[in-house]
Amino acid sequence: PKEKGWIGSYIYNYQGFWTSPRLIQGVIACQQQFQAQNSDIILVTTPKSGTTWLKALLFSLVNRKKYPIFEQNHPLLVKNPHDLVPFLELKLYVDGQVPDFSSFTPPRIMSTHLPYDSLPKSVQDSRTKLVYLCRNPRDTFISMWHFTNNLRLDYIDTNSIEEMFDHFCKGVSLYGPFWNHVLDYWGKRIEKPKKVIFLMYEEIKEKPTIQLKRLAEFLEFPFSIEEENCGVIDEILRMCSFDNLSNLDVNINGKLSTGEETKMFFRRGEVGDWKHYFTLEMSEKLNHIIKQKFHGSGLNFLYI
Ligand code: A3P
Repeated sequence: PKEKGWIGSYIYNYQGFWTSPRLIQGVIACQQQFQAQNSDIILVTTPKSGTTWLKALLFSLVNRKKYPIFEQNHPLLVKNPHDLVPFLELKLYVDGQVPDFSSFTPPRIMSTHLPYDSLPKSVQDSRTKLVYLCRNPRDTFISMWHFTNNLRLDYIDTNSIEEMFDHFCKGVSLYGPFWNHVLDYWGKRIEKPKKVIFLMYEEIKEKPTIQLKRLAEFLEFPFSIEEENCGVIDEILRMCSFDNLSNLDVNINGKLSTGEETKMFFRRGEVGDWKHYFTLEMSEKLNHIIKQKFHGSGLNFLYI
């Protein structure tokens, strides 16, 4: 089925999720060709949930022996996180191209927005670890609305907040329905606890040290006592913070290897910005849907 979509003239439903004609080739190519390794780490996110932040955290956490966090030549100082941790379907396999993995050293860190059942089979069948990140639906929606307005791609022909909100509520958003995506991985964290960790943007904001240690343990890269005492955790969090990353030259004036301006990935980086945009009616409508969809799941979003 095709719908007049919010990020393009049309978006299409493929395997139960919404995707644009521009992305589909990359999705299919990576599903058919990607060969996962047991040591791979794949970040899975709903779009605009803080992917850029988690890419930076994952990269610095996993590579902290190779690239000590205190060093002046740390890759994050000169490269945007999306160039350090590439998307499978949006970068490595984009337009159906054949990627060159020769420069990747294990553990390879990559990312995707694909729902679990649409992941390449080798990812599902291997011991590849999946780090899932989501964010409350109101901030996710507002972030996406700004992002699509900034993209100004020629295939965007609609950007009013009302129209996009209407689509979002119907489940029509890139990689959506939002609730299917989140609930899918929420269930997998119980079914496959060694394979899937479930993180929330708001929880990382609230208790960054606890969440980073949790992530490090899940990935089997736990912090030693010495590292904790030397302030490695604090330094990783500082390096990857919104304030630090968004003020680096590479993220103000740079472009990704895929052409997008790096500054697009940094806007406010806060919990609760939705309050500046949502009407009471919008809050009530989305609340009602979220309550229905997540009923009995035990998952509660944090909005402030
Ligand atoms: P806002 O639009 O609400 O500011 P993604 O990386 O998945 O595209 O998500 C982008 C959102 O994450 C944007 O949210 C962006 O500002 C925020 N973000 C980017 N870097 C961040 C960081 N280091 N810490 C917290 N939030 C960050």
